[in-house]
Amino acid sequence: MGHLNRRNFLGGVGAGAIALHATPAVADPPAAPTSPRFFGRMFKLAPFADNTPRVQEALRAMGAPGGLLDAKDPLHEGPIRLITNPELSPNNRDNPFHTAGTTFLGQFIDHDFTFDMHSKLAVPATPEQSPNTRNPTLSLDSVYGAGPIGSPQLYETSDRAKLRVESGGAFEDVPRRSDGVAIIADPRNDENMIISGLQAAFIKFHNNVVDRLRSQAVPNDRVFAEAQRLVVWHYQWIVRHEFMPQVVGHGITEDIFANGRRFFKPRPGQHFMPVEFQGACYRFGHSMVRPSYRANLKGDANGQPFFGFIFDPAGEGQADPVDLRGGRRARRRFIGWQTFFDFGDGQVKPNKRIDTKISTPLFKLPLGAIADGSPPTALPQRNLLRHLTWSLPSGQSIAKAMGIPVLTADIFPELKQFGVGLDASTPLWYYTLKEAEFLGDGISLAGMGARLVGEVFAGMLQLDPDSYLSQNPNWKPTLPSRTPGTFKMVDLLTFAKVDPTSRGQ
Ligand code: HEM
Repeated sequence: MGHLNRRNFLGGVGAGAIALHATPAVADPPAAPTSPRFFGRMFKLAPFADNTPRVQEALRAMGAPGGLLDAKDPLHEGPIRLITNPELSPNNRDNPFHTAGTTFLGQFIDHDFTFDMHSKLAVPATPEQSPNTRNPTLSLDSVYGAGPIGSPQLYETSDRAKLRVESGGAFEDVPRRSDGVAIIADPRNDENMIISGLQAAFIKFHNNVVDRLRSQAVPNDRVFAEAQRLVVWHYQWIVRHEFMPQVVGHGITEDIFANGRRFFKPRPGQHFMPVEFQGACYRFGHSMVRPSYRANLKGDANGQPFFGFIFDPAGEGQADPVDLRGGRRARRRFIGWQTFFDFGDGQVKPNKRIDTKISTPLFKLPLGAIADGSPPTALPQRNLLRHLTWSLPSGQSIAKAMGIPVLTADIFPELKQFGVGLDASTPLWYYTLKEAEFLGDGISLAGMGARLVGEVFAGMLQLDPDSYLSQNPNWKPTLPSRTPGTFKMVDLLTFAKVDPTSRGQ
């Protein structure tokens, strides 16, 4: 394909979409045997680059603090102004079509189906021999663990059908040991206050479903299993009908469910977490994170709102940190959800766009936010080096294999400076971000990235024998909602009684 600008590229999408049916280069079904307990590959294609010291250096430079990907947010303006005055960060544009909570729902979903605790940055590993610590389904094992018998520490001793939840002083908090460590099924769900708040909200949601079933005289020996099924199905409904259209795009989501998956086709019983998704494409979510948030409206001293950077080195070692890191209990450390999801009260704040600019605080993560606690602390560097771990193909080669128009080297002039050909053979994560920015103005994923992420999500729902789509594709949500027959995050938070009305603030 010759030189492309955005307009003639979009003009070419139709032709590419036709070519989609005739594509031969996909591992279909995957060449190597796969299993839900291990990672696997969707595509059998050459790596985007050789794993040489020069390439490693180039990736470190590309993802470095102050480098190409850094949105260079003016942090000196402080956490309040960076959310109330978005014009202060012209590089880091708001997304008026997503609310700030889309990011954390996305992170919560990530922690439900993938967790690589074993591979090492830039050290080649075989996906099919690398364990995925999570079940690659939307089954909330990150909340339920192995259930009341397998994970008794997560459940009330006096009522085994209910999950443990405690108070943080004013409102709910996840259960914690005396040193502050959360007692939850996935430690990552206490990495920042917002995801920790979501974990507590899902726990309360489950417990309230238990109460409802008991009020409907469901026999006690069936209450836990029935509550878990209802919780998981309502959550899956949200993923299918609220989250996927927002991030993948409405058109592609509906196309995949209507016309089927073309590229994610594991053998029956061998569905797995693909490294293309885990190591690159689904990490698009890092671009939606804001530098700062309003955690709640009245939780701080004298009933003031609590604003904070998502991470701030000044918070290190503080009992009640100035930033929004997780791992600490204090009275003001709870989430007022009206900032994150739209309760119709005018309080909601937008997400950041999906583009090649990443909020500055993510270039200096607290070591506690990294599973093995070791550097580098710049998240973009970690993402890029992980491409060498999995020998991921370039974005161009996957787009070509899919029959989707390719973003050519002239669309990546900024990558020439690294001297190893990344403009023509681009790391998959960066390519996914560039597609969203160039083709979709950062509103949602686009092109190859949208199809890959959409197909993996659809597969996670369709290949799980217990999902509502497998068990009862005509099922509709049954819990109370603002619009009967559907169910959204605001309904889930309301049923959990963590919504602004229940809190009185
Ligand atoms: C404040 C928000 C977030 C922080 C601090 C964060 C941080 C991290 C860190 C430290 C890793 C491990 C990196 C590595 O060593 O390779 C990671 C992995 C990952 N992140 Fe995020 N992340 C955030 C939000 C998100 C969002 C919103 C998404 C998607 C919508 C996402 C998707 C992923 C995925 C898929 C992985 C790989 C998980 C695995 O299998 O181990 N993250 N993130």
